[in-house]
Amino acid sequence: MVPEHYKGTIIVENLSKIFYIRKRRKGFLGSVLNLFYAEKYPLYAVDNISFQIQKGEIVGYLGPNGAGKSTTIKMLTGILMPTSGKILVNGLEPFTKRKIVTKNIGVVFGQRTQLWWDLPLYETFDLLRIIYKIDKDTFKNRLEEYINILGLDSFMDQQVRKLSLGQRMRADLAASLIHNPDILFLDEPTIGLDILTKDIVRKTIKYLNQKKKITVILTTHDIEDIEYLADRLILIDKGKIRYDGKLDHFIQMYQKSKRILIYLENEILLENFLNGYKILKNDMNRFYEIEIPLKESVSNVIDKIQKIGGRIHDITVKKQELADTLKEIYKGKEIELG
Ligand SMILES: Nc1ncnc2c1ncn2[C@@H]1O[C@H](COP(=O)(O)OP(=O)(O)OP(=O)(O)O)[C@@H](O)[C@H]1O
Ligand SMILES: [Mg+2]
Repeated sequence: MVPEHYKGTIIVENLSKIFYIRKRRKGFLGSVLNLFYAEKYPLYAVDNISFQIQKGEIVGYLGPNGAGKSTTIKMLTGILMPTSGKILVNGLEPFTKRKIVTKNIGVVFGQRTQLWWDLPLYETFDLLRIIYKIDKDTFKNRLEEYINILGLDSFMDQQVRKLSLGQRMRADLAASLIHNPDILFLDEPTIGLDILTKDIVRKTIKYLNQKKKITVILTTHDIEDIEYLADRLILIDKGKIRYDGKLDHFIQMYQKSKRILIYLENEILLENFLNGYKILKNDMNRFYEIEIPLKESVSNVIDKIQKIGGRIHDITVKKQELADTLKEIYKGKEIELG
């Protein structure tokens, strides 16, 4: 038996996954040689990472294409065997204890379905009931709940292969929850969805986390998923963790300046009076977007504008976009990561 305090937790220590990739030789002789002597080189898809996730956390697992996110999720869910290192999911090793681990986790890979392709959707759920040995009443109530939250009613009789992407993804999410898991692993659960369906999926994830205290680890390329859901980020690049901490802290750490949007009642040319600030936009000498250093107070700027006769109608301070920060990091700019 697994001790109760491990429930809903993930522990990863010095985890690595190396894939051995065949080196291809060029030319005729090369292709002949390829047939007989496969020369291989190691690819460190996940390179010695460690982290711990507590029960009830929602963690955004981010990184550029090829960073090692899916490889990590596959190891955490017992699909792939680690090359080295330790994983405990709900206190158990996923690869060696796959059967028990699977009973208490939910997994959604946005890129492919886990449902039975040829069956009508309701039969898929019924099969899961049998596999997970869920009693009929509990099953009925739970399924009804998810049919309502995720809006599955109109396509429950439809064959899975005929479902649209958005329908299939919602069905997959419901299927991953039918056995009431402690931890939910989501690998790009909103990929290709329209904005309304994205909203349904996000709200469902939030509901599960808040009401049922499900631990969630989520990979996504959609910044809004992160802003809406995650309070912690783990950022991975080339197999290595580059940041692990609060989302708020991440944004603050990289924020070097802020932008203020000013709407004036009267026309006035500010360019000559605001030395040291960068004017990013000037529309008809009335609407300005100005970049000021993070430490500078907004009231200083207001004072300066008023002194030269500017009457301020409206002013807003724009926070640094998470997307901008991530873009710089993905581009490999030398930002000091803490
Ligand atoms: N089965 C495999 N055999 C060989 N190489 C693999 C295998 N699976 C993944 N890789 C390689 O490992 C690296 C990490 O891949 P992974 O799928 O984990 O990236 P990812 O972070 O999920 O990227 P994306 O955002 O594009 O989904 C890539 O370079 C990929 O080509
Ligand atoms: Mg991936």
